[in-house]
Amino acid sequence: MRIVIVGPGALGSLFGAALTKRGHAVSLLGRQTPHLQALRDQGLRLEARDGTAEQVIVSATHDPAIVSDADALIVLVKSVDIVSALNAIRPYVSPDHIVLTLQNGLGNAERIRSVLGPGPRILVGVTSQAATRLGPGWVKHAGEGPTLVGFLDERDAAAAVKLASVFADAGLAATTVPDIDRWVWQKLAVNAAINGLTAVGNFPNGTIVTTPSLLDAAEIIAEEVASTAYEIGIELGGMRRAILETATATKDNRSSMLQDLDAGRPTEVAAIHEAVLKAAEEAGIATPATRVVAALIRAKERALSTAESNDGD
Ligand code: PAF
Repeated sequence: MRIVIVGPGALGSLFGAALTKRGHAVSLLGRQTPHLQALRDQGLRLEARDGTAEQVIVSATHDPAIVSDADALIVLVKSVDIVSALNAIRPYVSPDHIVLTLQNGLGNAERIRSVLGPGPRILVGVTSQAATRLGPGWVKHAGEGPTLVGFLDERDAAAAVKLASVFADAGLAATTVPDIDRWVWQKLAVNAAINGLTAVGNFPNGTIVTTPSLLDAAEIIAEEVASTAYEIGIELGGMRRAILETATATKDNRSSMLQDLDAGRPTEVAAIHEAVLKAAEEAGIATPATRVVAALIRAKERALSTAESNDGD
């Protein structure tokens, strides 16, 4: 399959390397950054959880015209930069393209549709893979979990099945689900809890597993998200277990939100915590813990002067 990954950050690089190794024609598309340059010059140094590493030759470019030749686009750019990234590729996107968003947060498919228009087929997925960028061209596969691929229109179910099988065949566990909205909210709840606490407290995901008071706090935040989801007709499973599972599977990872703060980049607080606050307000649900976390992340962003744009690098 010819695949373009829009957003060659830690996760984009991980997916790109796995799919390239399986023989797919993959291009990583991003801004001209030291990371992109390193990918072009030396390929990706991909480190496994046990510390062993391999060098994977990948194709990386900043030229959006590469999209014309692709069958599928996987959007992994951070939600704050989705509009500028998609504006760049829009002239090259056709109705034949499949566009899969694997981004964190709410509203990504709507944002993609609003920029790309009615043409391409849009799929929505969530992934529990975790990756940390250790330097330019250097990524650690910090945690493994399934990738769920869903569709918004029944007519796109076959495309979702195809992409899930391409991922699974490349060693990235994946399956298709008929109720992707539920999984987006489930991931949102886990991200609000894990990303929020780790970003504010500056610790890896595993600290939540080993610190009962943090696990309690994470559960309170996730339950606020679950209550909001319930009001709009989506019932989520037990949050404590979901947090424990994800934080355990990704225990060495610094969450993507913490990695953004580490690098002085804007975070995804708008697509995660503030999106929950908005939905909760509309549904009449009180979300005080999420509000506190959102305010603290914004304060940290201001303190770090995170004014740069963020394309997932
Ligand atoms: O955003 C993240 O960091 C990831 O979604 C996850 C699964 C919480 C792992 O860190």
